[in-house]
Amino acid sequence: MDGQSFSKRKQADVLFVPCWQGKNPTLACKEPLLNFVKEAISSGDFTGKADSTCLVYPKGSKEKRILLLGLGEKRKVSMEQLRKSYATAVNVSRVKHKAHAANVLFPEVSSLNREKLVQAICEGLLLANYEFSELKGEGSKNDSPHLFKSFSLIGLDKEDLSIAAKAKDLIQSVYLARDVVNKNADEMTPQKIVSVAKEIAKREKAVRVTVMGKKELEKEGLGLLLAVGRASIPDPLLISIHYDGDPDSKESIAVVGKGITYDTGGLSLKPTPSMLGMKSDMGGAGAVLGIIEAAAKLKIKKNLIGVIPSTENSIGSKSYKIGDVYTAYNGKTVEITNTDAEGRLALADALSYTAKNYKPAMMIDLATLTGACVVALGEQYSALFTSNKAILKGMEKASLETGDLAWPLPLHADYMRILKSDFADFSNSGTREGGSITAALFLQEFTDGIPWAHLDIAGPAFPSKPFGYNPKNATGAGVRLLVEFLEKFALSELG
Ligand code: BES
Ligand code: MN
Ligand code: ZN
Repeated sequence: MDGQSFSKRKQADVLFVPCWQGKNPTLACKEPLLNFVKEAISSGDFTGKADSTCLVYPKGSKEKRILLLGLGEKRKVSMEQLRKSYATAVNVSRVKHKAHAANVLFPEVSSLNREKLVQAICEGLLLANYEFSELKGEGSKNDSPHLFKSFSLIGLDKEDLSIAAKAKDLIQSVYLARDVVNKNADEMTPQKIVSVAKEIAKREKAVRVTVMGKKELEKEGLGLLLAVGRASIPDPLLISIHYDGDPDSKESIAVVGKGITYDTGGLSLKPTPSMLGMKSDMGGAGAVLGIIEAAAKLKIKKNLIGVIPSTENSIGSKSYKIGDVYTAYNGKTVEITNTDAEGRLALADALSYTAKNYKPAMMIDLATLTGACVVALGEQYSALFTSNKAILKGMEKASLETGDLAWPLPLHADYMRILKSDFADFSNSGTREGGSITAALFLQEFTDGIPWAHLDIAGPAFPSKPFGYNPKNATGAGVRLLVEFLEKFALSELG
């Protein structure tokens, strides 16, 4: 790990040099560096503050540039800080300097084990090295994307490199989730989501896909999903993507993702500014695809079923009607008081279908479900709803570990009164106040007593501004959180 010298580094556009913050910032790595780098560090221009950088043009180095990057104070360093600092280094040098190849030095950190250190740094590098430029015209395609083609990880041993390879697998699944959401909604139809799932199944032997088409949904009576899809030209589908990771066990975990490929609001039509980001309404579906792909690549020893209810929420003469009552797969009836509260309808049928037919030991759903959630928690946190203590604990740990953040909100049964209906068992929307809580309570009606958690990812799935290692627009929120959760959570904890 040590004893690296300049001569062992390849030619590159930039060298990342981690530094600790202090009165006099100090090098965080053991690499012997040229004297003037040390001079730059002690010049006072650079303090090593977290996420700060300082550019030096070296002479006689393999790299055109040296980028000093601040990790903040040594005693405060965390996985999340490492992700952020290395992401900053990537963003600065790929956007400002159009760099394509970096030599990356790693810090010596005694407070984090080696595995976590390598994992966090690789995640930071790769999460930031993403751009969605597929829809740019030829003119602007030439100068974008400025992405790194390679990172040379200096001083890593064989074990470190296998951790780095795992991190790469995971982040490529985050990219998959991001791409699904960023593509045109007109391309990423329910049927196209099936194709993406089938491509995963082609690459991974333990993955298979089953699909229920419109006729089957009608026959089986998934009346709420069908109601949402009535004005959609592409047919609504219920997509299941199975990963059989533990043939010795009969138990499985279901991960259910909202796959509204475009949300106009339906007859309760959204105003233009609110509709603008609504290709993101398949954020849950994208995450589910990423989670299953990552689980398969990382060979997680669990049986998982990804379930995606997918349709457009369109407006047209066939639109489901405000004031009408529709019957769910589990027989409950719902008065539609707002056709823009469509996600809970699609998910309701998906949850009760999953509960009845797959009988999972646990169900977790991910959905860009409510604007109210973004108002409550902003764009960094997903909301977590569950009444299962073990799931809550596991999610809190996974949230802290990954920086893919979730925070609990109450699932208080009293709020169900807000959904009271004169005509049906309940209505699909209530007041603005506590809007993400009533949405979660609505879903709970369809979980059939199976241990369950709901993640409202409306904020972090598609933020309006880039932050840290997350780009603007699709981030793949929920993929890293759930992969960590599923990897570490033992079903026996459910009690
Ligand atoms: N997909 C939206 C929620 C959303 C809003 C996600 C903003 C991301 C950003 C969802 O289908 C919706 O329209 N929810 C309504 C519910 C209301 C009608 C009860 C909302 O949040 O306004
Ligand atoms: Mn809606
Ligand atoms: Zn929606």
